[in-house]
Amino acid sequence: MCGIVAYVGHREACPLVIKGLKRLEYRGYDSAGVALMNGHGLKIYKKKGKVAALEHELDGKETHATIGMGHTRWATHGEPNDVNAHPHYSFHRKLAIIHNGIIENYAAIKQALLKKGHTFSSDTDTEVLGQFIEDIWEHQAGASNAGTLEDAVRLALQEVVGAYAIVIMNEADPTQLIAARKGSPLVIGVGENEFFLASDATPIVEYTKDVIYLNDYEIAVIKDGTLKVVTLDNTTTTPYVHKIELELEAIEKGGFDHFMLKEIFEQPRSIADSMRGRVQADDATLQLGGLRDYLDKLAKSKRIVIIGCGTSWHAGLVAEYIFEELARIPVEVEYASEFRYRNPIIKEGDIVIAISQSGETADTLAAIELAKSKGATIFGVCNVVGSSIARATDAGAYTHAGPEIGVASTKAFTAQVTVLTLMALAAAKRKGTISDSLFRQLLAELESIPAKVEKVLQAADKIKEIAYIFTYARNFIYLGRGLNFPVALEGALKLKEISYIHAEGYPAAEMKHGPIALIDEDMPVVVIATKDSSYEKIVSNIQEVKARKGRVIAITTEGDTHLPGIVDFTIEIPKVHEVLVPLVSVVPLQLLAYDIAVMRGRNVDQPRNLAKSVTVE
Ligand code: F6R
Repeated sequence: MCGIVAYVGHREACPLVIKGLKRLEYRGYDSAGVALMNGHGLKIYKKKGKVAALEHELDGKETHATIGMGHTRWATHGEPNDVNAHPHYSFHRKLAIIHNGIIENYAAIKQALLKKGHTFSSDTDTEVLGQFIEDIWEHQAGASNAGTLEDAVRLALQEVVGAYAIVIMNEADPTQLIAARKGSPLVIGVGENEFFLASDATPIVEYTKDVIYLNDYEIAVIKDGTLKVVTLDNTTTTPYVHKIELELEAIEKGGFDHFMLKEIFEQPRSIADSMRGRVQADDATLQLGGLRDYLDKLAKSKRIVIIGCGTSWHAGLVAEYIFEELARIPVEVEYASEFRYRNPIIKEGDIVIAISQSGETADTLAAIELAKSKGATIFGVCNVVGSSIARATDAGAYTHAGPEIGVASTKAFTAQVTVLTLMALAAAKRKGTISDSLFRQLLAELESIPAKVEKVLQAADKIKEIAYIFTYARNFIYLGRGLNFPVALEGALKLKEISYIHAEGYPAAEMKHGPIALIDEDMPVVVIATKDSSYEKIVSNIQEVKARKGRVIAITTEGDTHLPGIVDFTIEIPKVHEVLVPLVSVVPLQLLAYDIAVMRGRNVDQPRNLAKSVTVE
């Protein structure tokens, strides 16, 4: 969702900002723009479509500047077009503004400005905010207690309801950038006499590793080469400068055609990274630093409520089985967007686990705040270090999957499931609900998962052949039982989001309660039929599909000689302990979705309408 990049210093701002916008393309957007300032004043260029269209627009223009900012917009207020794209001028063009998030009371502010004679060129809430700030500033300037732009920003934001990350340029000061955040992320890169601002660290990492994560209700004022951070109530704070570990290679394609493919193939490493320093199978030890002080609380909890959205919600469904099986703690898994608008019952001793790759998902963040207000202890399972959700939780564990750039989540899912499994194992051990031998066995099995995923990846060519046969299917059904049911949901989600084929995931036994009516010779049915406790049952479900001429692609366990005789296609995965099977069984489904989407000519890394980081509700 919307991306922000800004720069002030001694470098050429325009190419730096454009490059930064390209690094943020993965977040999803439908228009892009830049504001640049030089001897010719404050200039804005913007265009509907990709950053490449904006570059074209800039061709031949005077773009020399050492201060500038850029934005990729994911439309909320007003359709995606050149006019609604950011940046926006203020009414008297003294300011330019870019904004992520939603100003919920923009209509009331707009009415007040209209009464004062303001006019608006766009449909956006952002233009309203820019005009509002300028109006306060001008009003102050005319008064005896003439204030600064910083004061005007502060006063305006005190009136604003909603979420924002904003950056403002001031036509009167080519050294000044003012930024503020509430609910939408903003990172400040600190260089030698230069500053970078961005929605995440990816546009900054090649220039500096020193970053400040702006907190909610904070305003950053960069002026004459210095940075000051103040709160909305005008208290100066001392920002903490973090060293980021992100390397440039991690955010480049590294020879793969798409980020999604790179990320699928990275899973042997990312799963290992999510266990690194935590699991020692040899001496049967498991340590989760971020849980140390809360492990007792987790083990003694009466109930766990897991919240998340999309793929993260699917990881939660897998975790439900694992926590209940190993730690014997009742688990409920809920969409964060539903949880936040109910009046959920949180009792003493309940733990809420929030799962989020980006750590910025607005619904999950709001659900956390609600659970907190009801006294719950909140654990986070996040990928992005320093993200809003990671900072809003009491305890938790990072997934350490590395940056996920492809919009469709792949390696983040397997890392989430790995970390949640470790949490369940740690709780089970502390609670005494797991035998020493099973604990030892599962740790050893976990350590073998990266090699098993590697083996599945070797079947990539075979999966491509199957994808070719089904490229133009109009619907798909995915079936699984037990721990493979959430995997079926995840496989269906992957296919629909990047190929735009309608796909549904079901618990296999539910099929006969409705979806079976859809099955005929045109319906591909992907069944995860690994050799585990429900194998016999799922074979019966497959027979039901075959009896109606459905075309079955089965994910089977290596050495299964029975299913190849019944189904149309098989993709084998190595034998894995039942509790860990989703970590491996999901991989062929990721590849199948990827291949079909590529064959259909889809934009795999940036599918239509989707955003990587969903910072609006
Ligand atoms: C699916 C996908 C989305 C996200 C969802 C939650 O491939 O990427 O469904 O899983 O938007 O995002 P996070 O995990 O960042 O909270």
